[in-house]
Amino acid sequence: MKNILIISTSMRNKSNSEILAQQALQGALAIGNNAELITMKDKDIRFCKGCLACQKTMKCVIKDDVSEILEKVKAADTVVFVTPIYYYELSGQLKTLLDRLNPLYPQEYSFRDIYLMTTSAEEGDEVVETAVGGLKGWIACFEKARFAGVFNGGGVNDANEASKREELLKAAREFGKSL
Ligand SMILES: Cc1cc2nc3c(=O)[nH]c(=O)nc-3n(C[C@H](O)[C@H](O)[C@H](O)COP(=O)(O)O)c2cc1C
Repeated sequence: MKNILIISTSMRNKSNSEILAQQALQGALAIGNNAELITMKDKDIRFCKGCLACQKTMKCVIKDDVSEILEKVKAADTVVFVTPIYYYELSGQLKTLLDRLNPLYPQEYSFRDIYLMTTSAEEGDEVVETAVGGLKGWIACFEKARFAGVFNGGGVNDANEASKREELLKAAREFGKSL
């Protein structure tokens, strides 16, 4: 049994990536994992100021909802970052969260396997290449962690479109079982 944390970062109602993340959660739970899905939609998350105080204090000077998310990331074995593809990249929301996890850099942490889950209007592996590279930059700074894989739900653009794509829903569920 693994402790799996799935973090959805789209701000959109009926977000395609969150719909697929819910399926991944169901898959992960179905085979007996301890899994949780959290969304940034209802959170107060501000930009990193770059002061680096966290490298000494292991705490961020900004008091918002990141501290709660950070504790969950720290304790998970497996983390799945979920994002819409924006201009062939991670969403700004996810990049902001990754930056704000900087207090973890000097700390012990449990996570080992890091996955990326995306949705995009276009289909094809090349649509997610730059986003994967962005996440790998973060992972490179946590030497016990590794990039474990990417799931892209391609070909969905309008809100809620993913819920009508049975094959995508099923693939996302299977992805959840494979974590
Ligand atoms: C600012 C912005 C940039 C986008 N850039 C891309 C892109 O580069 N490639 C692509 O295939 N889709 C792009 N899209 C489409 C989204 O990836 C697509 O609508 C996705 O399903 C949104 O996921 P969500 O519903 O979870 O937010 C973009 C959408 C927005 C709003």
